[in-house]
Amino acid sequence: MTSSDGPLVLGIETSCDETGVGIVRGETLLFDAVASSVDQHARYGGVVPEVASRAHLEAIVPTLERACQEAGVRLDDLDAIAVTAGPGLAGALLVGTASAKALALATGKPLYGVNHLAGHVAVDIVQHGPLPEPTMAMLVSGGHSSLLLVADITSDITSLGDTIDDAAGEAFDKVARVLGLPFPGGPWVDKAARGLDGVPGVDAEAGPGNATYVDFPRGLTSGRDMERHRFDFSFSGLKTAVARWVEARALAGQPVPVADVAASFQEAVTDVLTRKAILACQEHGVQDLQIGGGVAANSRLRSMAEERCAAAGIRLRVPRPGLCTDNGAMIATLGAQLVARGHAPSSLDLPTDSSMPVSRVQV
Ligand code: KG4
Ligand code: ZN
Repeated sequence: MTSSDGPLVLGIETSCDETGVGIVRGETLLFDAVASSVDQHARYGGVVPEVASRAHLEAIVPTLERACQEAGVRLDDLDAIAVTAGPGLAGALLVGTASAKALALATGKPLYGVNHLAGHVAVDIVQHGPLPEPTMAMLVSGGHSSLLLVADITSDITSLGDTIDDAAGEAFDKVARVLGLPFPGGPWVDKAARGLDGVPGVDAEAGPGNATYVDFPRGLTSGRDMERHRFDFSFSGLKTAVARWVEARALAGQPVPVADVAASFQEAVTDVLTRKAILACQEHGVQDLQIGGGVAANSRLRSMAEERCAAAGIRLRVPRPGLCTDNGAMIATLGAQLVARGHAPSSLDLPTDSSMPVSRVQV
């Protein structure tokens, strides 16, 4: 039975390289177990789908057991099981959905196949409470950079804009490679820009990088682009500009100031992201902005968003970094919202959809 504290939902996430199992009671996170295969992809410089699928297969049962044990929950206690049905890597999604179906079949619990992107938005509920509706959500991850108008997290999400080439996280990862930093590059670029110790090519004694060292291009922000691509993003030109700048330095036989380039690149990305997100709020009369996805863990994006939202009178919500990157809690949270709002479960033969649009919250 659903308790007065809300439905008890287990969420399974396997859309990319994290095997996540989270357990949520209503709006409270009980436990979030994540196993990552990121180290196995590092030597390829990007996520290898077959390697990810194999890693999910190996990790899913131990991760499930750990989540239940740590949360002190038995499968029998659950009100529902939720699973990422898309978007994501086709083979990786199949491991999660097959596991969720098997669990649902064995326990007789209802199954909800849900949208990964909506999950990134929903997860903030377990940290900051009920999501104001409407909320403007900016989703910035390895695969997406979208601005979403969320009127109802369970049924009404409209995409206002998206990347027209590289996703924000992809740009971070590619620029990291150009700067000789490890994969996944986002956290390393972040650390390099802050001048932290232990980052290849960075002298920690020199302090943080200079964000105005190079004036890198801000894609799709010029007058004409703002007419045609008002809430779209483009990071491919920026990535190329960084690569050319670094190449020119190397050709001239000069050292590359890694911290300064990282800080300047990061400034360009966060400038465009926050500018467009705030404009979207203003033009749609929305007072709340939520930022989610792996890149939302970025320290400069967080500080710039705080400054600019405060200046614009917009309330900002950004979950803690561990909830920004892929995890099971986001799927469990979204599942709990669907159950609480009386949505019918998905069919036990629900399909996966590797390019599931965000307008489709549930299969
Ligand atoms: O949401 P996520 O875990 O997976 C996807 O659904 O893509 O996002 C992963 C992305 C990677 O590109 C990673 O480099 C980036 O998020 N990322 C960051 C930071 N932490 C993770 N990018 C910038 N700064 C960070 N601190
Ligand atoms: Zn994600």
